Amino acid sequence: MEKMKPHIIVLPRIFDPRGSLSFAEGENHVPFDIARVYWIYDVPAGEVRGSHSHKEAKSLLVATNGSFTVHLFDGKTTESFTLSRPFEGLYIPPGYWRTLDNFSSGSVCMVLTSLPYSEDDYIRDYNEFLNQCNG
Ligand code: TYD
Repeated sequence: MEKMKPHIIVLPRIFDPRGSLSFAEGENHVPFDIARVYWIYDVPAGEVRGSHSHKEAKSLLVATNGSFTVHLFDGKTTESFTLSRPFEGLYIPPGYWRTLDNFSSGSVCMVLTSLPYSEDDYIRDYNEFLNQCNG
């Protein structure tokens, strides 16, 4: 099967006069089993997060509050996505160098991921990533 590319997944939305609700189920709305959830917040203006790739882990990034931009590099081209809607998730397969920037004040980046935390799954060295792409 051809590897899925990064793409936006529109999550369910339950409209209600009391407010809206969205949700995501592993292997249903999200194309993997969810093993871990983490979130990034209190990002000072101008800071950059990420700057790594994953060997195996798949991710879904959601701007649960505010907005930020995700840049994804596959070794050849960069695709950028600005997330600003709590009902949209950006699916990222393994093998993409990701950087997150342009965080608005008070923004929150929630990440659903397919593996428990393991530093062994990270490539944090850009040259190592490039070598992997070319190898
Ligand atoms: P880091 O990967 O640099 O965050 P980002 O993806 O936003 O750039 O992670 C920051 C620190 O947090 C690093 O020391 C690893 C640790 N960490 C955990 O302990 N558990 C986790 O689930 C995550 C995502 C990070």
